[in-house]
Parts: sequence; C-alpha cells; structure tokens
Amino acid sequence: MTSPTEEVQRGLQDVVALESRICFIDGKQGRLIYNGYDIRDLASKSNFEEVAYLLWYGRLPTTDQLATLRHHLIELRELPAAMAERIDSMPAGSNPMDILRTAVSELALFEPEETRPGPSSIGGAQRLTAVLPSIVGQFHRRRAGLPRLGTRPDLSHAGYLLYALLDREPTELESRVLDVALVLHADHELNASTFSARVTASTLSDLYSAVTSAVGTLKGPLHGGANERVMELLEEIGTPDRAEEVVKAKLSRHERIMGFGHRVYKVEDPRATILREWSRRIGEAKGDLHYYELLRKVEEVVHHEKGLYPNVDLYSGSVYGLLGIPTDLFTPVFATSRVAGWTAHVLEEYQDLRLIRPSAKYIGPTDLPYVPIKARV
Ligand code: ACO
Repeated sequence: MTSPTEEVQRGLQDVVALESRICFIDGKQGRLIYNGYDIRDLASKSNFEEVAYLLWYGRLPTTDQLATLRHHLIELRELPAAMAERIDSMPAGSNPMDILRTAVSELALFEPEETRPGPSSIGGAQRLTAVLPSIVGQFHRRRAGLPRLGTRPDLSHAGYLLYALLDREPTELESRVLDVALVLHADHELNASTFSARVTASTLSDLYSAVTSAVGTLKGPLHGGANERVMELLEEIGTPDRAEEVVKAKLSRHERIMGFGHRVYKVEDPRATILREWSRRIGEAKGDLHYYELLRKVEEVVHHEKGLYPNVDLYSGSVYGLLGIPTDLFTPVFATSRVAGWTAHVLEEYQDLRLIRPSAKYIGPTDLPYVPIKARV
C-alpha cells in the first residue's frame, strides 16, 4: 500500500509498473530487444509483418505462418464502405491524428465481434494493424483529390502505405526504407501511448478503446509528434552554417530541441543509429543529402551544448520527408507501426489482468469548513 508520505516519482520515472515479455530496453548500453531479438538484427534481416507476428505470438514465424499472416493482413485491409464514406465526410483540413483516433473509435461500431476483450482480441489486433494504413491513406487521398485505392494484394504493409500516400508504385529501396522504419517503431516497452493502451485494457475495456487511447497519447509533441517538429526545425535552420546559431538561441530560451533526449536511453537510441544510416542511403539515392547534412550539424551542436543524444524521431522525419510523405502524416505513419506493439501489450494485459490504478500524493487542504453558497465571497 502507498502512503501519502511516500516519494512521488514525477512522470512515473523509473517506476516498474508490470512484467512483460515483449520488449526490453537497455538504456545504458543502447540496446532494444523485441521478444529476445536485437533490433539491429530485426532491422537488417526481418520485415514489419514478421515483427508483428513476433510481438503478438512471442516467436518468429515459419515460412507458412508468415505467408498466412501476410495473406490475412491483406484481406483485412479493406474498410467497411460506410466507414470509408465517413472518412470522406470528415473535414479535409483536420489534424490526421484526430482523423485516425476518430476512425479507430468509429470502426468499433462496425465490428462488435472484435471488440470483446480477452485473448480472442488477436483478431482485432490484426484487423487494426491491417486497416490503419487504409485509414491514413484514404484520408490523405481524399484531401489530395485522389481516387480511393483498392486493397493491392501484391503490396506489403509498407508498400501499400507508400502507394496510398504517393499515388505511384514505390521503388524497392523506398519500400525497404519505410519497412525498416516500421520495424524500428513497432514497439518500445512502456512508452506513454503503450502505457495508456494498457491502462485502458486493464479496466477490461476492449482493444479498440485501448488503441483509441493510444492514438490520442501518441499525438503529443513530446512523444510521436516530435518528428514533425524536427522538420519545422530544419526549415527554420535552412543551411548547416545556421545550425549553431539557431540551436543555441533555442537552448538559451530553454526550448527543447525535438529529436533529442530520452527518458530511458542515456546513450544514443539504437533506432537513431540505424535510421541515420538509412537517411544517408535514401538521400544518396535521391541525390539530396540536405537533410542528412543539416541533421549531422544539429547533432554536433546539441551534443556539444547539452550532452544530449538523438532519439528515433531525429532521423525518421528526414527519411519520411525524402520518401515524399507529407509532414503532418509522420505521426500517423508511426501509428501504423506502433499499433502492432500496442495490441501485443493489450493481449498481454488481458492474460495477466490487474487494474492499473496508481495513487496520488494529496497536497491540498483537508479541513476546510463548508460555507453555504450565499455566504461565499
Ligand atoms: N532539448 C533540450 N533540453 C532537453 C531535451 C531536449 N530535447 N531533452 C531533455 N532536455 C533537458 C531538460 O530541459 C532537462 O534539463 P534541466 O535539468 O536543465 O531542466 C533535462 O534535459 C532532463 O529533461 P527531462 O524532461 O526531465 O527528461 P525526460 O526524461 O522527462 O525527457 C523527453 C524525455 C520528454 C523525450 C525529452 O528528452 C524531450 O522533451 N525531448 C524532445 C521531444 C522528443 O524528441 N520526443 C521524442 C521521444 S522518442 C519517442 O517518443 C518516439
């Protein structure tokens, strides 16, 4: 039992809230592990669909198991016609994360079977993972005046998302780069959005409600929204020779530099190391190393001034930007990957359910006399 005198861990920092087999972060060594597998191996040898299988089932799939999952995810891509119409009727100028949050919540109305909480929610986990690129893609296509897209069974999760956003066949390199980014973003232990998904699930609420909570949490600029702000920073800096001046001015105003720092990593985020290399590769392939060079300079200044290391969001924005993904879709793209982790955590929560309900240290008064309303001033 907690007592009011106990130390408050602001932001629940360093509080171990539960046991999990899904993801391990070694913040001192800069390691990230999904179900026993190092992120560096997964990023170089695996793919998003395989990683989703790993997160949901706790083991890598066989060839047949992976083929079955791929087939299933493609089948589940299609939105109900009424839902597609709803997305078309939402204000075209909306924040895409608001669209995503609303669409996930509304989808539950069409899929009552999938909303029953419990281990059978694996069906809902696959449905939501399959359908998120369709929601993001459809909203973007509609606001860009593009026709609706079919399910394109020949395309992977990453390839389909890119096709929907770019309205053209992605190259092999483009699909691979996005696939790597999705692998890197698929899970990250008890990050804020995953925690909010688990809190919702811990009340025995359903998976769609849990993912709705998670999307709302991911939206914030201190979490998933940081990579969009990195692009704003790059626009503001313009050329590498201005990086020092702009960054120092921001730091002197006590502003945060987006894409740097992390609650858990005390060294470089391994996902940033991998994405930095992919940012260079895609920049070279497109003959445009502008973002890469600018970010290298920003890294140098921030490290020199504050000793901070980059997190995953520093280079993800530049990679998405070079792929031609609009900046306001960076966080929704993040969600199309993290949904695999959110749903894996919700499934784990259902298996060992315990209501998540911490305590607060009360710091207000306790003995105020009740004053009748007419006597109050
Ligand atoms: N820029 C400038 N200063 C920073 C930054 C930053 N990006 N990050 C931390 N600091 C400083 C703080 O100002 C504080 O300094 P002080 O002690 O002099 O006041 C110190 O470092 C500790 O900061 P906290 O906020 O206590 O550290 P916390 O663990 O809560 O921060 C966070 C983690 C929120 C990610 C923070 O580093 C941040 O705001 N970064 C920028 C946003 C960002 O990139 N978010 C993406 C995270 S990765 C993800 O969600 C996918």
